[in-house]
Amino acid sequence: MSDKDTSSVSEAEIAVYWQEENLLPPSAAFVAQANLTDRAIFERFGLDNFPDCFKEYADLLDWDQTWHTTLDSSDAPCFKWFVGGRINASHNCVDRHLALNRNKVALLFVPEPEGEAHQAITYQELWVRVNETAALLQDFAHLKAGDRVTIHLPMTPELPVTMLACARLGVIHSVVFAGFSGKACGERAADSGSRVLITMDSYYRGGALLDHKEKADEAVHAAAAEKQAIDTVLVWQRKTGGYHSATPMQAGRDHFMNEVLPRYRGKRVAPVPMPAEAPLFLMYTSGTTGRPKGCQHGTGGYLAYAAGTSKLVQDIHPNDVYWCMADIGWITGHTYIVYGPLALGATSVLFEGVPTFPDAGRAWRIAEQLGVNIFHTAPTTIRMLRKLGPDEPAKYNYHFKHMTTVGEPIEPTVWKWYHEVVGKGAAVIVDTWWQTETGGVLCSTMPGIHSMKAGSAGPAAPGIHASVLDEDGQNMPAGSGKAGNIIIRNPWPGLFQTIWGDRERYVKTYFAKYNKNPKSKDWRDWPYFPGDAAVLAADGYYRILGRVDDVINVAGHRLGTKELESACLIVNEVAEAAVVPVNDEIKGKLPEIYIALKPGVKASKTIEQAVVKAIEVEIGKIARPRHVWIVPDMPKTRSGKIMRRVLAAISNGSPVGDITTLANPEVVEQVRIMVQGK
Ligand code: WTA
Repeated sequence: MSDKDTSSVSEAEIAVYWQEENLLPPSAAFVAQANLTDRAIFERFGLDNFPDCFKEYADLLDWDQTWHTTLDSSDAPCFKWFVGGRINASHNCVDRHLALNRNKVALLFVPEPEGEAHQAITYQELWVRVNETAALLQDFAHLKAGDRVTIHLPMTPELPVTMLACARLGVIHSVVFAGFSGKACGERAADSGSRVLITMDSYYRGGALLDHKEKADEAVHAAAAEKQAIDTVLVWQRKTGGYHSATPMQAGRDHFMNEVLPRYRGKRVAPVPMPAEAPLFLMYTSGTTGRPKGCQHGTGGYLAYAAGTSKLVQDIHPNDVYWCMADIGWITGHTYIVYGPLALGATSVLFEGVPTFPDAGRAWRIAEQLGVNIFHTAPTTIRMLRKLGPDEPAKYNYHFKHMTTVGEPIEPTVWKWYHEVVGKGAAVIVDTWWQTETGGVLCSTMPGIHSMKAGSAGPAAPGIHASVLDEDGQNMPAGSGKAGNIIIRNPWPGLFQTIWGDRERYVKTYFAKYNKNPKSKDWRDWPYFPGDAAVLAADGYYRILGRVDDVINVAGHRLGTKELESACLIVNEVAEAAVVPVNDEIKGKLPEIYIALKPGVKASKTIEQAVVKAIEVEIGKIARPRHVWIVPDMPKTRSGKIMRRVLAAISNGSPVGDITTLANPEVVEQVRIMVQGK
């Protein structure tokens, strides 16, 4: 089975059919230079040394004041790390590198248009930009420690500069992926209580200069509808001196950064020594029910975990050229483009565009030109590049020592192409499993220690004590071959602190499942439940199978089916909506929508289009469905629950299983014929 293309199998099939692949050791050349080759790390990070083992990560940072308590569980499961310590993330990512490395490149910006010059931003220059921006945020936008700011910026240097300026002041940033709609941005801004929105007029994507400022107007409107006033919109300009948006600037509310910044030329703002447990940022992610949740990450713990895993898992050294092709608008970009690499004083590449534009060789030209030697991307991108340009990598003279895959399971066939063709057989691969909530990698091979195994993330990272449990909490031993819920037995510094404004939901979603004593202050009573299914092989490698909840992983991005369904219901004619995941060769999964109309309404293309439009407006184009099916009725249980499982089976062409207990089994065949034909 391993050589058959398995890109469109379901999770259950992954568990059953992906055979155990052979172990492939890292090359001697890689091991000789690796940051981590000493297996004793797993003893140092054993439970006997918990939680103090994480001092090893915290010691990678500069502290204004040392902590007195490594882990405070008094408000479990809202854990606090390095309590009593004071630290500033902006100082750690910028200032502290000046003494020895002020001329070193911190960020290498590659604009999408190939004719536009790259920008190499040194640590000195980053320091100047971050200071002036911080001065503006403080003085002009009246922001102070603890305030929240929503940032809706594309992949340009202004994004990390703005984040680090916030961090300098202790202002909590909430970056919303630029591809999200204005409405989605505004709802997140309202939830976080932001009165300042930072955006850009336009940016390049797939060959076009997109109007981005128009989304800011929608965002302000959407926030106002939720009683959150946004009084200040700061607008960066993608091209200095020009304004490339059709929307007018609103006097008193909208300000061009490039016009205000000169007032702060030469201004320096001392980094605020923040309590280690002060929130650094919020990152919204989709959940099972209702609205996206603002995952709140702390300063000291998060940064320590970001730096530690960047060093050990990403194997970043001072002279490496490191390129993570994720978007900073997602957690991967926060941890592994901005905070981790910059805390280590590395050079991090920032690419504005898509890797297949103008052709499938673009990524490899960039790698060749910049001398990239560490490359980091997602399976969906690897599948796309493999499909569009299977022979492209060989045409370019670049050499990766290390490559990452993150965000979804990667099929062995795709993994092998990544290894042999992109990595030219020489690079090690780490398949890193983690989440927005976890701050950094949880399971991965340690590249200088473990052999790789295609299709498996690998063992738990140092200090992470994972298990696979059944529904009743019984441990499923290694090698049992059975899938269960992966859990982490202990907290770790990168674990998010709470859901912004909703502690109850935090406890319920991530801890209640296996907690036996809700009053306990002992971390041992609070295993973390990520919501993923996994199998644990006899050799201790975890294979992640996918979500066990109603979240669809589209091209590595999480979309809640409930959010999509609510968007459908905005269309007046729609009575009921059900969203199911369909396997997709490139994107892993795509949402497919079933709707039933209100009595008397006739099905039409117009309604289908209105549903797609509603999704684009409410969430963004990333959530666009593969198809909208208008069905005569939804298959339902006798208690009236829509059987999404049956619809998903129809969409994926798999057996619908037992439907005899449904209230309306005859509908199943009607829907099947509609979707699959006779
Ligand atoms: C999935 C991205 C298999 C998983 C860092 C998780 C993965 C969700 C992997 C988190 C992997 C992430 N193998 N599945 N290596 N990495 N996932 O929050 O279902 O955007 O729960 O964080 O992606 O997605 P998120």
